[in-house]
Amino acid sequence: MKHLLSITDLGVDGIEDLLRLTDSFVEVSERAIPKVPALRGKTVVSLFYEDSTRTRLSFETAAKRLSADTMNFSVGTSSVKKGESLRDTVLTIEAMGVDCIVVRHASAGVPWQVAAWVDASVINAGDGWHEHPTQALLDCYTIRRHRGGLDGGRVAIVGDIKHSRVARSDVLAFTALGADVTLVAPPTLLPPSLEGWPVTVSHDLDAVLPKCDVVYVLRMQRERQTEALLPSLREYTARFGLTPRRADLLDADAIVMHPGPMNRGVEISAEVADLPRSVIVDQVRNGVAVRMAILYWLLGSGVDLVAVP
Ligand code: NCD
Repeated sequence: MKHLLSITDLGVDGIEDLLRLTDSFVEVSERAIPKVPALRGKTVVSLFYEDSTRTRLSFETAAKRLSADTMNFSVGTSSVKKGESLRDTVLTIEAMGVDCIVVRHASAGVPWQVAAWVDASVINAGDGWHEHPTQALLDCYTIRRHRGGLDGGRVAIVGDIKHSRVARSDVLAFTALGADVTLVAPPTLLPPSLEGWPVTVSHDLDAVLPKCDVVYVLRMQRERQTEALLPSLREYTARFGLTPRRADLLDADAIVMHPGPMNRGVEISAEVADLPRSVIVDQVRNGVAVRMAILYWLLGSGVDLVAVP
């Protein structure tokens, strides 16, 4: 495989193989000097047209731990401000000789477009409301580490599903690995049609929480909401926020996840975010190893994915 654009590119076997490969990069990350020469001489560039803290730094750390060179592109300080088109920007970057372009863009489909223009490998780091496959892989990995696996697991994804690329990729990945997924949101924060989504829908968080192993809370993505979808944020928090009272409804060993950035006090209370059952910091830690596995897989020298280095 040359690119990672969608979770559907991987299939169940591909997801399983990548998660297995991640184990060896977790081991590398735990060493005193967490660095291997696997991608020496390769160049990875991040092309981010949208804000990011975690994903951008995570890819950069992953590339550096594999000894690749990294380049960073920020729209705010680039010639995009002078009117340069996406295609010209991409061709300019490619002319410098890069092996991998990690793309984030506010429009769905941009990573596919970039992949059609260049010879380099392309990784989708989030395209509009559409997909965020590396987030889904790190989420699967985190659930596996804490719960042993996803098969038969009950996962509730709560909040602004409509605008969430994380939810779309997570639903694909979690259900591919055998989890039962319930989406919990007010009707206005669900996609207009859920036809073909292998999920159950609920509007009652209190009823779902006692019956789940994983509660995955989404950020309220106000920057993507162009119309008034909620009476008020307070109302939302009252009905769908993960408060301490609601967290008490969970099974003793159920875990709480969030892709970050969190809005403490809106979708999740500050206390719940800091409970031992919240594995949000682990998600970030695992994200580096998962991205090392992805970069190694796409750019390593034609290795069989199952044969761990
Ligand atoms: C998410 C994103 O940008 O899609 N964050 C992330 O990558 N961890 C989710 C969000 O912005 O709410």
